[in-house]
Amino acid sequence: MFKKTIGILGGGQLGKMTALAAQNWDVPLRFLDKSKDFPAGKVCPYFEEGDFTKYEDVYEFGKNCDIITIEIESVNTAALHQLVQEGKTVHPSPVVLDIIKDKGLQKEFYIENQLPTSSFLLVKNKQEILEKVEEGTIQLPFVQKARMGGYDGKGVSVIKVESDLEHKLMDTPSVIEDLVNIEKELGVIVVRNEKGETAVYPTVEMIFSEEANLVEYLLSPARITDQQEKEAQALAVQTIEAYGACGLLAVEMFLTPAGEILINEVAPRPHNSGHHSIDACMTSQYAQLIRSLYNMPLGSTKMTSPAIMLNLLGEPEYKGLVHYQGFEECTAIEGVKVHIYGKELTKPFRKMGHVTVIDSDPDQLLEKARFVKKTLKVVSE
Ligand SMILES: Nc1ncnc2c1ncn2[C@@H]1O[C@H](COP(=O)(O)OP(=O)(O)OP(=O)(O)O)[C@@H](O)[C@H]1O
Ligand SMILES: [Mg+2]
Repeated sequence: MFKKTIGILGGGQLGKMTALAAQNWDVPLRFLDKSKDFPAGKVCPYFEEGDFTKYEDVYEFGKNCDIITIEIESVNTAALHQLVQEGKTVHPSPVVLDIIKDKGLQKEFYIENQLPTSSFLLVKNKQEILEKVEEGTIQLPFVQKARMGGYDGKGVSVIKVESDLEHKLMDTPSVIEDLVNIEKELGVIVVRNEKGETAVYPTVEMIFSEEANLVEYLLSPARITDQQEKEAQALAVQTIEAYGACGLLAVEMFLTPAGEILINEVAPRPHNSGHHSIDACMTSQYAQLIRSLYNMPLGSTKMTSPAIMLNLLGEPEYKGLVHYQGFEECTAIEGVKVHIYGKELTKPFRKMGHVTVIDSDPDQLLEKARFVKKTLKVVSE
């Protein structure tokens, strides 16, 4: 039915889940990543081994596809620009990707487009930060973010006290941001097709663990007022329209105690904060991506149940062939949906899978999630 081949740069779990959604419609799909053993390689036979950061690899791969998309931002955009020139459809466009890949350009984009974000300035290196602190242009506390290459909090350093200036500063081109007083971290996924139609998902709220300062659960819909929900969704739509991007855009936001909503950053691809959409929404973010790439009508984003998503991370003490402890106990529970990415080896904090818990009762929902959290462990054999 679908004649146009979709090529995806990156063959990890986000690619795998996209492939599973695409297979349902028999979509011709190809991947480019280092090894067929990666998660997407297990579910898609057209997997080319190569390096998506290299011009030649991306260009050669893209020439054999009609529509090209990504599951990771760190791809070679020079090759994507060339492919666009030659008439290929690339979503997100390399122009948008070049802005988003650089946290400095991203922050400037929000200012230029009058989208709310925390105050910031750009610096070249550590020396410039120290000078600006000395002259009072930068004041403690602040957040330093490497402009390029950060992910999962790597490349983010919070500088609170004088001694942090010695130990925690990175010597790289950076964004220096005000430390925001965060009431809640929110995520909103929005999707847009070439006709300019958009669809936006209910807001997701990150729930942090009290001991470790890590996100423990993602809850959707978020526990915010109807007004805040409307604002967050409208902001996500405004953001994707400002970028003029097609495909998915995950917009990470901060809600402040004063009720202000600020954009932290965006990701123009499937996102962790949309995993629950497979089990708890009318249309998953992955199916939605396929629809948008083919410029089809977008699917309903309505939730079929409130949901909590937990990432299954490798336990800190284990390294080696993976084993999922407590798997049967958890899968026995109604509304507990376990997703295993298919990585053979576990290592500390590696993302190995996720679980979506659904329940119409908020207390039951949290109780089940807590049970899964303490029962299902990623260890080695
Ligand atoms: N200006 C800020 N004020 C306070 N906290 C912040 C600020 N910027 C970032 N943080 C905190 O640091 C976290 C990581 O920041 P950010 O999302 O920019 O980095 P990242 O490496 O791209 O992370 P990830 O890949 O997990 O999204 C945020 O989720 C938030 O908890
Ligand atoms: Mg982030």
